Amino acid sequence: MEGRFNKKIISFVLLVVLLAELVVLGYFYYLFQKEVAQNAIALEAKISDLEDQNMFLADALYKEQQKNSEFASQIKQIAGTVGKLDILSKTDKELLQKYSKVYFLNENYIPEDLVNIPPDYVYEEGKKIKFHTKAFPYLQEMLVSAKRNGINLKIISGFRSFGEQGALKNAYLVTYGSGANQFSADQGFSEHQLGTTIDFTTPELGANFDNFKSSSAYDWLLSNAYKYGFVISYPEGNNYYQFEPWHWRFVGKGLAKRLYEDGEYFYDLDQRTIDSYLINIFN
Ligand code: DAL
Ligand code: ZN
Repeated sequence: MEGRFNKKIISFVLLVVLLAELVVLGYFYYLFQKEVAQNAIALEAKISDLEDQNMFLADALYKEQQKNSEFASQIKQIAGTVGKLDILSKTDKELLQKYSKVYFLNENYIPEDLVNIPPDYVYEEGKKIKFHTKAFPYLQEMLVSAKRNGINLKIISGFRSFGEQGALKNAYLVTYGSGANQFSADQGFSEHQLGTTIDFTTPELGANFDNFKSSSAYDWLLSNAYKYGFVISYPEGNNYYQFEPWHWRFVGKGLAKRLYEDGEYFYDLDQRTIDSYLINIFN
């Protein structure tokens, strides 16, 4: 009887110990879970922090890249401007000035370089006619193209120095009196001193090129000369001289094309507009 009682007590004690262990274990498990949960929250907060930092860095990187590309394009622009200024500083600004009674060309001015026009293109046998070296390829291209189209252009006058223009004008004044002012520039005011201006004729018309206006050569020049950078300086009704269909000036393809397309003449434009074409005159 006593033995059974003892067994019950022992069982009861064991049960109590087991329950106590379970409670302790449960408590530790609870603590463990709590820490895990806290760690997870802390970790999430860190990840979110890092994500914020990441976004901030990505944003900063993007802004830096933007700045860099703006800087690069500014440098490119500056380099372009320097290049343009360099070309302009090496381009003779007289080449696009208005010389007809408007602007005076110094008596010492001669073009930077002159070539003799090949005799084939010169009307008068044996006559030496000079032309601006850099503009000559354009003239030659035009003459070749005209020939291919059955137009036989000949050159009767090209570069004339200050002195030559003066002598010519004086001779005209003797013969025609003040009437010479209608067709001949005073020294210093002739486009011929630039070396980029040509008087054309044809073998049929020769030195008497007054009828040039009725020639197929003139028609061809009106439709085609701009393609080679040449323009007529004194069209019908101009304010400077009589109509001179034979007198053509090289102004560069860009300006010549603009004038052709707009139906305007060189002397209609203001000097500022004309000057904007100087940089590309030999392009
Ligand atoms: N015949 C033109 C106007 C000149 O002498 O330049
Ligand atoms: Zn002329």
